[in-house]
Amino acid sequence: MDKDVEKILYDEKSLENKAAELAELINNDYKGKKLVVVGILKGCIVFLADLFRRIKVDCELDFMAASSYGSSTESSGELIIKKDLSADIRNKDVLIVEDILDTGNTLYRLKDYIRSKNPASVKLCVLFDKPDRRKRNIRADYCGYTIDDLFIVGYGLDYDEKYRNLPYVGVLKPEIYNKSN
Ligand code: IMP
Ligand code: MG
Repeated sequence: MDKDVEKILYDEKSLENKAAELAELINNDYKGKKLVVVGILKGCIVFLADLFRRIKVDCELDFMAASSYGSSTESSGELIIKKDLSADIRNKDVLIVEDILDTGNTLYRLKDYIRSKNPASVKLCVLFDKPDRRKRNIRADYCGYTIDDLFIVGYGLDYDEKYRNLPYVGVLKPEIYNKSN
């Protein structure tokens, strides 16, 4: 285990199984539809790699990068689009894939932005949900795990761009983020 991690919450195998479980739900719901999966960089990538390989319906893959996080552990509330969509999503069914739904600030604005491009539908799939911290009226259509108000890293999730490569999801030791706050 990484020295900055307090404890492991989910190991590699559980995470892979969870991605397979969510893919199964998505496969059932989108049968016969034109799906565009939009991964939100960078946090989505490891989860998306596990999820996307198991999606069996016709689909395109696209990415957006939008951030409201710096080194602090709370989003500023302002959406900055760093990478826009490349796909034409008009009249298509869009599934946004994100690592974690926290205050909801980022995804609330992102969903609005994506809706403005006139897709047939927009749904949201997140691996983690921290409902205690929600500030916006937004819910995930597909959610892997609902967790307490803990700062987690690994499997794509970072703190200050570190720990994304950990194969498991663990709780970051508070002294790591208290250092720079
Ligand atoms: P929101 O706008 O507050 O919902 O923030 C969402 C983004 O914050 C996520 O996409 C993550 O990048 C980041 N985030 C929120 N909670 C955590 C966490 O526990 N670990 C790592 N990143 C997090
Ligand atoms: Mg992030």
